[in-house]
Amino acid sequence: MTSQTDTSAATDAAIAYLREHDAEHLAQLDEFLRIESVSADPARNDDVRRAAHWIVDELTSLGIEKATIHETSGHPIVTAEWVHAGGDAPTVLVYCHYDVQPADPLDEWIRPPFDPRHEDERVYARGAGDDKGQLFMHLKAVEAWMKTADGLPLNLRFFFEGDEEVGSEPVEQFITDHADLLRADVCVVSDGDTFDDDGTPAIGYGLRGIGYWEVKVQGPRQDVHSGQYGGGIDNPANVLVRMLASLVDGDGRFTVPGFYDKVRDLTDEEHAAYAALPFDEASWADETGVPAAMEGERDHPLLERLSARPTFDINGIWGGYSGEGSKTIIPAWAAAKISTRLVPDQDFREIEQSVKAHLESIAPPTVRVEVKTIHGGAPVVTPLDHPGVAPAVRALEAGFGKAPLFQRSGGSIPVVAALDAHLGLKTLMVGFANPTGNFHAPNEWMSMRNLRDGTVSLVHLWAELGAMRASDLSTD
Ligand code: BES
Ligand code: ZN
Repeated sequence: MTSQTDTSAATDAAIAYLREHDAEHLAQLDEFLRIESVSADPARNDDVRRAAHWIVDELTSLGIEKATIHETSGHPIVTAEWVHAGGDAPTVLVYCHYDVQPADPLDEWIRPPFDPRHEDERVYARGAGDDKGQLFMHLKAVEAWMKTADGLPLNLRFFFEGDEEVGSEPVEQFITDHADLLRADVCVVSDGDTFDDDGTPAIGYGLRGIGYWEVKVQGPRQDVHSGQYGGGIDNPANVLVRMLASLVDGDGRFTVPGFYDKVRDLTDEEHAAYAALPFDEASWADETGVPAAMEGERDHPLLERLSARPTFDINGIWGGYSGEGSKTIIPAWAAAKISTRLVPDQDFREIEQSVKAHLESIAPPTVRVEVKTIHGGAPVVTPLDHPGVAPAVRALEAGFGKAPLFQRSGGSIPVVAALDAHLGLKTLMVGFANPTGNFHAPNEWMSMRNLRDGTVSLVHLWAELGAMRASDLSTD
């Protein structure tokens, strides 16, 4: 781009293009959402791959080059690039994921999860917000530039993953093997949410890390009669719940020794930033249907506990008889999926060691306990003085008509810490899903307002960053 006037005329043209093609784009989003790209379900592997191909075809048809499907130890990774902005234009890496969470419980969906429903100015479908809808917004912002200008105002590389919802196991290897395909001045990740459902956008500056395990308590070789053996054989389900219950204290703190040792305290400025955010605890809790929010750690207000403090959860627990009526047995085994959300500077590998050692130490000698790691990911906090933040603020304000607020998210996106660790690549998190949009739950949705204003914001973001030089984005 040669001048400010040219840039703003080009931005206007790209935005007009989005307006003109709105209905067509919504129909195309439905087509993408219909693909059942559930990464956790091996029966859906071909659908996950189909989603990757759908993206490759779309990128290629837009004139984006080298759109490639990479095989990994998990699902495919898609990369592509358009690097003709010339001079010392910046290069941005765009990351989103195209896999989705399983849709069950199916009978709680008003319409089937992979049959998108448009209602109340919302798109309802699995993946509408997390994260296919946001990936789609990136495709459309790029399309708007490619169709109305003679290319993009900056260089873009794309990195789309199909394993995010199951822990991103293949990404570390991919990042180290293919650094050249990911080389950029900054990464933009769109996999989070706006600040509220009233059109207040957000810039994310943190994510929690995660540790996820499966614990199995094995008792007798097979189920036994609870009358014949009760009182003599330790019940694995009783043992499991006793062990798990001992892992949290009355303040909701995880009792594994050393767990809090490396938790970084918030600074006074950080406490103040949390306190300044508009947040109504009662209506937040009410939204979920619970009678009240939990008390949790005394020294930390709810908003801090939701993203700046670690947590422990039992994600699922099963074993024994759960069919109709009753069955009097001592089950042979019981199992649970458990996870912790981690914050800086907790280290997943260290936490993994102490969780395993602790569970083994509290297991009674009457059972065998097996702990399997499912996945782990590191927490991140990104600096707010990054040179990409101010342009992102302007772009979001232009798209939504409101200045963004800064928030740390409680969720995890393992690739963000991995890109920093392996490539020194910093990330700007601009998320567009609705905070009450039922991520991972029945009737997931994204508002058409967020879809539209978010896509327009991305058009602005590329103009804003394109007006900078690559060296302006450097953090060295
Ligand atoms: N989009 C979410 C992460 C997220 C949630 C960011 C809410 C901001 C607000 C992402 O798809 C996700 O769910 N990640 C998993 C990662 C895990 C499987 C390693 C998560 O957080 O559970
Ligand atoms: Zn998710």
